[in-house]
Amino acid sequence: MGKVFVDACFGKETPYTPVWMMRQAGRYLPEYMEVRRKVGNFLDMTRNPEIVAEITLQPIKRLDVDAAILFSDILNLPMEMGLPLRFEKGVGPIFDKTINDEKDIEELDERAYEKISYVYKGIKLIKKDLPESKALIGFSGSPWTVSTYMVEGRGSKQYAKIKKMVYTNPKLLHKLLDKVTDQTIKYLSKQIESGADAIMVFDSWGGALEREKFFEFSWEYMKEIAKSIKQNYKNIPVILFSKGVGLYMSDMDGEFDVLGIDWNTPMDYALDIFKDNYTLQGNMDPTRLYSKEATKEAVIKIAEIMKGHRHIFNLGHGILPDVPVENAKYFVDLCKEVTRR
Ligand code: CP3
Repeated sequence: MGKVFVDACFGKETPYTPVWMMRQAGRYLPEYMEVRRKVGNFLDMTRNPEIVAEITLQPIKRLDVDAAILFSDILNLPMEMGLPLRFEKGVGPIFDKTINDEKDIEELDERAYEKISYVYKGIKLIKKDLPESKALIGFSGSPWTVSTYMVEGRGSKQYAKIKKMVYTNPKLLHKLLDKVTDQTIKYLSKQIESGADAIMVFDSWGGALEREKFFEFSWEYMKEIAKSIKQNYKNIPVILFSKGVGLYMSDMDGEFDVLGIDWNTPMDYALDIFKDNYTLQGNMDPTRLYSKEATKEAVIKIAEIMKGHRHIFNLGHGILPDVPVENAKYFVDLCKEVTRR
């Protein structure tokens, strides 16, 4: 039996529309919180292969989703490139050292993708216990989104520092993006070699850029990653996800298999543009999970729009920490039930 998730990525017929949730291995799960209390801190959890495997598999056991996603963070790679990372309560991720000039970029460690071996060890452990019918998704951040943290040092509302670079020193920024892209391709390739069944690139801050600049500074690099992966690993689906760029979609193309759709973008609008050229993944507003009724309404509507088309159910962004687990389970079961063929 093949993997329902991988088949759906390639537009093959499946017994139902597969489903998983962004951030599904996280704080809304009591079993996640238990491990977190034991280990004490998030980053240490991501650096321990046994813990990585345990947490990655939790949503498979609890929710019976069709894909597991590696438990890690998009910021582990830049951390291994030489920027010490910490998470602060109420702030989020922080790099105290940031990228400001050519020298900072030259000093970045090009062995980062090897130093991050705890991820590869984790993947091997996950694959030992993951049921044959389920897929494991490996991932990275997009070079643009990772670079926003490397330049700004933390999450940002205006992105003034990196956008200043976009308009005053684009050459410097391209140099950084090139280096991050190179590391990312090597990183994702090693995840595949270790056993990842699919890979996804998260571009959470693509929407910080105006249309033309989005394609120049974000999409082109995501396309380059996809192209390189598809060249070497034809059977591994590539998923691209940019947030906040629904209005730029008509210009998106490339050698990928699945496009993640955020919750601001109506699914019928996306389908109109892409037809069945790609599988569309998404896109329920994650806050609907606070209500079973609101969840049901969206699932039925999305299933109707996507009926007969290439689709994977997901949320339009990550699940929130205070969502009842019971509602998440309801969402997963319902997606399969209403699409069973
Ligand atoms: O989807 C998954 O379950 C896989 C694991 C995963 C995490 N982060 C685990 C995590 C993935 C794919 C990410 C991606 C990620 N990380 C993105 C892109 C996707 C998105 O959500 O937009 C970004 C921007 C980050 C950076 C990051 N890491 C932020 C902004 C935060 C939140 C900080 C906070 O205070 O909540 C994190 C932490 C993080 N990454 C957690 C998890 C489970 C929470 C850690 C915890 O508090 O236990």
